Amino acid sequence: MTNEVKIAHISDLHISGMQDRRQLDSLSCLFDHFNTAGYDHLVISGDLSNSASPGDWKIVREKLESHGLYHWDKTTVIPGNHDLISLEEEMRFYNALNPLPQLRKKAFDRRVVDFCLFFQELITGDKRGNQAFPFLKIINYSSVKIALAALNSVYPWYPADNPLGARGYISTGQLRALSVERVLTALADCFVIGLCHHAYKVYGTDSPIDQAFDWTMELKNRDEFLGVMKAIHAKLVLHGHFHRFQSYGVKDITFINGGSFRYNPLCFSQLVINGQGCCVQKFVALPIKS
Ligand SMILES: [Fe+2]
Ligand SMILES: [Fe+2]
Repeated sequence: MTNEVKIAHISDLHISGMQDRRQLDSLSCLFDHFNTAGYDHLVISGDLSNSASPGDWKIVREKLESHGLYHWDKTTVIPGNHDLISLEEEMRFYNALNPLPQLRKKAFDRRVVDFCLFFQELITGDKRGNQAFPFLKIINYSSVKIALAALNSVYPWYPADNPLGARGYISTGQLRALSVERVLTALADCFVIGLCHHAYKVYGTDSPIDQAFDWTMELKNRDEFLGVMKAIHAKLVLHGHFHRFQSYGVKDITFINGGSFRYNPLCFSQLVINGQGCCVQKFVALPIKS
């Protein structure tokens, strides 16, 4: 037994059915590696599906099951915008019926519940548990207690405010739920890792094209989110969405973007956390099989 906890983080799988055999084989290859290299936990930070299809979630769930990873203490998943929003469907529905925003919001909330029910074992670990975000997962390893504080940052599609469905927003209810005294007490002796799909930082250049792109992808209330991450003393925040493998610091918190499995299926982020609460992060690239 080592005194370190090893976490693998992948993101943005964008699975699109069973046709792409290479993509599915790569997923098996990656999961095999997590087992042989002795990873303690796997985090998947959203966009499991490319087109909000439960069929794609099923593919991921079955892969996890067949690799013995489909357990509360082995894997954590959260949804991305591509899991909850089908742009094509939203637009067709909107153009045909022009439904009230409240109705669209209701349909969106149902999708969140569907996702949580589908991955219930990895989210609540309780067959009858509620499906709401945020959820806290505290795992007591022999050397360190790890807490994952997971939030849903997917914001429903709105024609003017979120035309591509890719902007993010974390509800005040979720942020408030993490800020209460009871949570702070529970997290006091933990190495805390925040988790959401959207990036804190996007391009951030002055170019008008980049700025327009940033607007469609941004986490609208990122500074409020940052405030809560600071309040719970998160050391790291893991995210995806912006398909780039990168890490960056914001006010003493290290943000790690798990990139995209879809675009580089052999690369993932590795965290090694020791008993003193020190963490070393690196991106690992598996060799290409000949
Ligand atoms: Fe994505
Ligand atoms: Fe995304």
